[in-house]
Amino acid sequence: MTEKQLKELLADLTFEEKLGELQQITNTYFGENGIVTGSDARHILNEDEVNLAGSVINVVGPAKIREIQEKHIKNHPHHIPMMFMFDIIHGFATIFPIPLAQSCSFEPDLVEAIARETAREASVSGLHVTFSPMVDICRDARWGRVMESYGEDPYLTSKMGVAAVKGYQGDDLSKEGTLAACVKHFAAYGLVEGGREYGVVDTSERFLRQYYLPAYKAGCDAGSALIMSAFTANAGVPADADKHLMSDILRDEWGYEGAHITDYGSTRTMKSHGVPETDAQVAKLALEAQVDIEMCLYCYHNGLPELLEKGEITMEQIDRAVMRVLQLKNKLGLFENPYRYTDAQKSDELKNNPEALALAQDAVSRSSVLLKNEDKLLPLNANDNKKIAFIGPYVEEPDMFGGWSIRHQYKIDLKNIHTAINERYPNGNFTFNEGCMLLGEDEPMFKFNPRRAKSVANYVEHDAAARKEKIAKAVEDARNADVVVMCIGEHTLMGGELTSRTHIEIPLIQKELFDAVEEVNDNIVVVLFNHRPLDISDISEKAKAVIVAWFPGIMAADGITDMLFGEKAPTGRLTMCFPHTVGQCPIYYANFPTSHSPVTEDFFVTGYIDCPLTPLYTFGEGMTYTEFEYGEIKLSKETLSEGETLTASVDITNVGDRDGVETVQLYIRDPYAAVSRPLKELKGFKKVAVKKGETVNVEFTLTTEDLKFYNVELDYICEPGEIQVFIGKDSAVKEHADFQVI
Ligand code: BGC
Repeated sequence: MTEKQLKELLADLTFEEKLGELQQITNTYFGENGIVTGSDARHILNEDEVNLAGSVINVVGPAKIREIQEKHIKNHPHHIPMMFMFDIIHGFATIFPIPLAQSCSFEPDLVEAIARETAREASVSGLHVTFSPMVDICRDARWGRVMESYGEDPYLTSKMGVAAVKGYQGDDLSKEGTLAACVKHFAAYGLVEGGREYGVVDTSERFLRQYYLPAYKAGCDAGSALIMSAFTANAGVPADADKHLMSDILRDEWGYEGAHITDYGSTRTMKSHGVPETDAQVAKLALEAQVDIEMCLYCYHNGLPELLEKGEITMEQIDRAVMRVLQLKNKLGLFENPYRYTDAQKSDELKNNPEALALAQDAVSRSSVLLKNEDKLLPLNANDNKKIAFIGPYVEEPDMFGGWSIRHQYKIDLKNIHTAINERYPNGNFTFNEGCMLLGEDEPMFKFNPRRAKSVANYVEHDAAARKEKIAKAVEDARNADVVVMCIGEHTLMGGELTSRTHIEIPLIQKELFDAVEEVNDNIVVVLFNHRPLDISDISEKAKAVIVAWFPGIMAADGITDMLFGEKAPTGRLTMCFPHTVGQCPIYYANFPTSHSPVTEDFFVTGYIDCPLTPLYTFGEGMTYTEFEYGEIKLSKETLSEGETLTASVDITNVGDRDGVETVQLYIRDPYAAVSRPLKELKGFKKVAVKKGETVNVEFTLTTEDLKFYNVELDYICEPGEIQVFIGKDSAVKEHADFQVI
């Protein structure tokens, strides 16, 4: 449709139809074959109103989507199609590593390829919108949702968010194989105090603009068709009511014209925050903040008629919101083709096709992080007849998908690590032993959250004698082995929404297993499954090698086998710091100097009396199966002014005994500025393949844009003065070369 036709359509809609466009409903309104089942206790819309709803969440399956759409178009007075939205967070039929793992690849191209494949699979199954990517900056491992993010750094998160938007949407949203993206959760949801889900956020406008907003802006600038607000209230202002953020900044400053959707019932959470009391008050605040679609709640439905009648809002305000919804439908090509690319047969064919599975398998080593590898214990050799004992619940458990996974779409048989290794190396001198269940009854999560206990019931060991016996058996295997590989970590339901933790260690039962095994064998490799940085201080001290595999998805078993035996090397780097202890959270590398730890010195005077200030493993950290040496940093000039470009370069030599891939990182420090600046900030990264013995030159460019920050007056400026440029293998790099901004 042309813009003119859209305007004509809008002008022709009744008020009820307009309200309908702003209403997102849940799948629960529909029974078998897409029939509207009418109101029940939880639903307040009647059948006529459901027939006007602009979008629906959580309907899955091409046949059902087609049925619902067909009936909807027929019943809608203007035959306006519905939009089908779903949380597709790390793959649809092919489940890829969790987003936090994907970010560790430091490869935006990988993130884009994963999003493209996801869009291909989901769009033929009838879906139009995914609520992804989440670009909240996450610096507190206690928050369960860090797994959905791209980590702690604004620069990296922006790059990854843009890659995901491009991958989902392609260059034309009406084309086959595309999905509309939705950057979320606007804004700064990751800042919840103490990692407490839905908790308090309080940040200054300067820090909000400097560190938390850039990734959303990058996603919006990349064309994300939607943006979703957060459940939180920054400094007491609920996001959906935050006119300054949603309207002044998002719409007026950034010029964002996409559709703004609330989070699931977040209009109600405005009331929970204790700001407005009635639906009408909520509706007024949200509409004034230019929120367009209300997800699964009815404040617009209940409140807007009354507000309009009293003259408290205008029809122009409503029309503006409805127009954005119509524009989104138009971008998706729904007016021309309401079923878009829904195709049951194609959807079935695309389920876990070999190409997608190969990408998923490759993604495992590209996103896993090798934190330690003493005595070059890894990679293992399947042919030297050394005895290897594989121990731990993830040796036998095939579900290594992690939180926010879609589990009903895949077609292949899931493999566990035991099977994958046996298939690949049938003659290996191996033993396999679960050692214990994933969780024990003593796990703190059960003490306060009985709901969790129910949902993970099948994974909990209730029998104390069995617990002892299984561990004793594993210890026997370990005693007789030359090397032990322990596959341990969080349960898949310990990450995602509503999974905040105060103990960020592996489950107690598995720690008991680790401690017992470690008593009898010194050569331990740990493969860790985790949604978040965990406190692994004890494990990493005692194990000789540690691979952080995160939750690697559908090809976890094969991907891990690749790495363990060196067919592929892990090349990921941490994108969130691993603390020494949970007491350090929140923790991040781009920290600030303090009154007693000046920016000019490389040590910290202030800190804890019982723990260093720095993390156990820092941002950017990670190894691979070869080593690299860095040469001297060279700058193309000593000064830089507006409009100019400066080149920073370094030689990297592969000094190890195999070809490898290095993630070269560039950080800057602005030691003296109008406001205190972080000790380091990432401003560039490149993942380069370097052959054994080879040297390559890696080059980055910087302009004054890279150096800008918000000063006291909130002007975004680059000041004259010294800038230090660090290039190295992680954020702890010490070597720098300096230039002057003039
Ligand atoms: C989450 C969102 C999600 C939405 C829809 C909410 O509870 O915060 O991230 O997109 O539900 O499922």
